[in-house]
Amino acid sequence: MITTCAAPGKIYLFGEHAVVYGEHAIACAVELRTRVAVKRSNDISISSNIGTTGLDFQMHPYVSSAIQKLGSPDVSIEITSRIPVGSGLGSSAAVTVATLEAINIECGLGYDKTNIAKMAHEIEQTVQGAASPTDTFVSTFGGVVEIPSRKKLDILDCGIVIGNTNKGASPKKTAQLVKQVAQLKKEYPDLIDPIIKIIGSFARHGETMVMQKNYRELGKLMNANHGLLDALGVCTMELSALVYAARNAGAYGAKLTGAGGGGCMVALTDSPEKVANAIEKAGGSAIISSFTPDGVLQV
Ligand code: PMV
Repeated sequence: MITTCAAPGKIYLFGEHAVVYGEHAIACAVELRTRVAVKRSNDISISSNIGTTGLDFQMHPYVSSAIQKLGSPDVSIEITSRIPVGSGLGSSAAVTVATLEAINIECGLGYDKTNIAKMAHEIEQTVQGAASPTDTFVSTFGGVVEIPSRKKLDILDCGIVIGNTNKGASPKKTAQLVKQVAQLKKEYPDLIDPIIKIIGSFARHGETMVMQKNYRELGKLMNANHGLLDALGVCTMELSALVYAARNAGAYGAKLTGAGGGGCMVALTDSPEKVANAIEKAGGSAIISSFTPDGVLQV
């Protein structure tokens, strides 16, 4: 038998960076998945677009750690992913969650989703040194999630377009940018602390707009949140170019998503093709996506 599971990536509508200091944020699962197929075998093998290995903590650190966490059963694993790696979309969380769940089902281990999310977070922490539980939580459970309460908000039926700058992608980026913001905060606490608090307030207001499905107002708040992230020094020229291209093409709102310093932006829109074209013209790669209520699924 083969068990295949698919886990989603995530974007932030509001609150990245501020969430590190206990402020509110809204993270959303998006219909852009990593699929992991698991089959029992005579030994352990892991295949992905970077090649085929055995248990290999250099080449396949997340998948190897997931196999080890579940007692190193002899399984052959095949990974395919639509989520760009190291670009703020939670690719490492998705591959970890999908691997854990697929092995869990194939080997009849009986873990529930709460166990899967917890193990996935532990793996991210071990591999990365530090990681917030948001990515693994959202990838496991899906939906539009208020952080830190983890309350699920209504799902949004508006289109979203992800724009990838194809620059600055690196799994180390998040730690580096979190440190950079901490440094700025230390140098100018009286200036930076209020910005961080205001970002939290945007996330709170955003929650009301999500519940009202008021996309126009949500977009305005996202635009302002982007400006505040720029003020924290995590935006780049390439990200700004894609953000403004999306807004000029009529998006309700557009902002960088995740740690910044390159990576991806996201636009909320009812005309995804038009916005995607504008992003491509401005030098990015566009992915038309949607919000999803579903976390990891057996497919
Ligand atoms: O770029 P990502 O998807 O790893 O998001 C980082 C979000 C931060 O708020 C900057 C850090 C965090 O752990 O919450």
